[in-house]
Amino acid sequence: MTTINETPLENLRAEIDSIDDQLLALIERRSAVAARLAGHKAASGALKYRPRRQAEIVARLEKQADGLPAPAIRAIWRELMGHSLQAQTRTEIVLFGTGDRAVLEAHVRAHFGSSAPIVWASGVADALHRAGSSEAIAVIGGPLPELTPPLRVCDIVSEDGGATLAWIVGRVLPQDCAVPYAHISAPEHGTQPSKSGWAPSTWRLREAQQMPSYPDPEALAHVERRLSRTAPLVRVPDIMLLRAYLAKVSAGDAFLLQGGDCAETFAEFSADKVRATYTLLLRMGAMLRGASGTEVIHLARIAGQFAKPRSSHSETIGGVTMPSYRGDAVNGALPDLASRTPDPRRLVDAHRQARVTIDLLRAYAAASYADLPEVQGPTGLRDPVRPVPMFTSHEALLLNYEQALTRFDEVSESWWATSGHMIWIGDRTRALDGAHVEFARGVANPVGLKCGPNLDADELLRLMDRLDPDNQPGRLVLIGRFGAANAAKQLAPLMEATRREGKQAVWTTDPMHGNTRTAGRFKTRLMSDIMAEIGTFFDVARAQGVHPGGVHLEMTGCEVTECLGGSVNIVEEDLPKRYLSHCDPRLNGNQALNVAARLAELLAEEAPAERSAA
Ligand code: PEP
Ligand code: CO
Repeated sequence: MTTINETPLENLRAEIDSIDDQLLALIERRSAVAARLAGHKAASGALKYRPRRQAEIVARLEKQADGLPAPAIRAIWRELMGHSLQAQTRTEIVLFGTGDRAVLEAHVRAHFGSSAPIVWASGVADALHRAGSSEAIAVIGGPLPELTPPLRVCDIVSEDGGATLAWIVGRVLPQDCAVPYAHISAPEHGTQPSKSGWAPSTWRLREAQQMPSYPDPEALAHVERRLSRTAPLVRVPDIMLLRAYLAKVSAGDAFLLQGGDCAETFAEFSADKVRATYTLLLRMGAMLRGASGTEVIHLARIAGQFAKPRSSHSETIGGVTMPSYRGDAVNGALPDLASRTPDPRRLVDAHRQARVTIDLLRAYAAASYADLPEVQGPTGLRDPVRPVPMFTSHEALLLNYEQALTRFDEVSESWWATSGHMIWIGDRTRALDGAHVEFARGVANPVGLKCGPNLDADELLRLMDRLDPDNQPGRLVLIGRFGAANAAKQLAPLMEATRREGKQAVWTTDPMHGNTRTAGRFKTRLMSDIMAEIGTFFDVARAQGVHPGGVHLEMTGCEVTECLGGSVNIVEEDLPKRYLSHCDPRLNGNQALNVAARLAELLAEEAPAERSAA
C-alpha cells in the first residue's frame, strides 16, 4: 500500500531548487527585457520611472493570485521593479519628512526595493530641487508646496493600513502618474505661499531674455555641475547683514553707495584695480558721511559683473555677422566669429576671478583703517575706527551661473544666491513672467530692480508683489534710470505709487544708463546730465516724501577718459586717450569724487536738524 507522503524529502528539495533556478532565470530575463525597454522610452526629459505601470502590474497580479497574499505580491514585485528601474538608470530616492525617519525610510525602501540609493535631503526645497534637476525622485513626508511641471506627484507611499505617509514627486509625465491629479491635496501649511512652486531651476520654464545661446549644451551642463560643487562666494550671514543695512536705508537712516565697472574683464583684472575701486568707494562714502552724518552702505559693482544685456543679438563687422559681445563671462570682445562664440568655460574663469576679488576686498577691508584718513564726524569728534564692510553686487543675467551658485541654508530655511550679496534685474530682463524675475523671487538676497522709462506704476507694483510679496524692508532696491531730461516726469508717478502703497522698498538713482550719448565713435556721458538726474532724484523724492536712498554709478578708480566734464575737465578730444571700457563709459576717480561732493551737499540738506545738533 502506498501513501501520498511517500515522496522522499530529497526529491521535494530538488524540485524547489529547480524552481528557484527557473525563477532566477526568469527574473534575469525580466531585467534584460526591462533594460531593452529603457532604450525605447522616449527621451522626453522624464524619468525612466513609470509609477502607473508599476501599480497596474501589482494590481493585476494581486487579482490573479490564488494562494499568495497581496502584501507578499506587493513586496516581491516592488523589489523586482525597483531593481529593473535601477538597472535602467541609477535613480536616487531623495527623502524629506518631519515624522519618524526610520518608519518613513522603511516604507520607502519597501516601495523602491533594496537596490534603490536612498538619501536624505536638507528640506523640502532641496529634495524638490534635486528631483527637478537630476536623475532623482523626491519623497516628501509632510505638506507639499505647489509644484511646477515637469515635477508632479506621481505616487504615494502608504502604510499597510492605507494611510498616506509620503508623496512621491518626480519628473513623470501625467499619463505615467499612479495617482490621479485630483487625489492630491492642496498644500495645507508650513510653506511660504510667496515662494510656492519655486526651485532654483524653475526659471528654465520661463522665457529668458538676453541669455547667450551656447552651441554645446553638454559643455554648459558640465560647467554648471562643476560650479554647483564649489563653496559659496559670499557667506549667508553677510548677505543677511546687507539686508539689515538696507532695512536701515528703508527707514531713512542710511544711504546706499553702489558703484563699479560697467563690466569687469579678464584682461584688466589686477589687485591694484580692485584696490582702486575699493578705495574710491570708501573715499566717496567718507565724504557723504562727513557732510551729513548719514550712515553709508558700500556696495561694489564687482566680483560677478561679467555679463551685459545688449540691444542687438548680433552685429556685422567687415561683412561678417557675428554674435554681439556680451561680457567676458560669455564670449570675447574681439570681432571674429571664434572669439564671439559663447563658451561656458568662461563662467568658470569669471567665477575664479570673482573669488579672488572677494578675497582681496576682505583683505582690504581688514586693513582699511590703516591707510584711510580719519573722518571728522558730525559730532565734531573723530569717528571710532572700525573696518567698513564692502558688499558685492552684479546683474543676475546669466541664470545658469546663478542657479549653480544658489544654496539652501538650513538655519534660515531659505535659498540664497551666493554669487554676491546683492543681485539686480536689468531694465531689459524685468519681464514679470520672465526667467530673471522668476529666479530672483525665490532667493532671499536683497534684489535690485532697474526701473527705466518704459516702466509704469502698475507694472512696477506687480513686479514688487512678485519679488517682495511680504513687503520686507531691506529686500528690494528700486534703481531709477530715466535720463536727465525725463527723470522728473517718469520718476514721480512711480514714487507716488510706492509711497501710496506703503512699500518698504528703497529708492535709488542710476544717473548713468539713461544718459548715454555718442560722440564720434565713442559712447559717452556728460557730467552735467549725471548731476542733473541726481538733483532731480532728490527733488522728486522730497516732493513725494520718499527717502532718497542711494546712488548707482558706473565708475572706476583708474584714470580713464570716458565721460565728459568734471572739475578736471574731460573734453571730446580727450576721449581717445584712455577710453578703456568695452561697454558703457565710466566716471573716472576725479569725476566720481565730484559726484560724491554733490551728493554730500544734497544729503546735508536732507539731514534733519537734530542730527547735526546731536
Ligand atoms: C547696467 O547696469 O549695466 C545696465 C545694463 O543697466 P540697465 O539694465 O539699467 O540698462
Ligand atoms: Co552699463
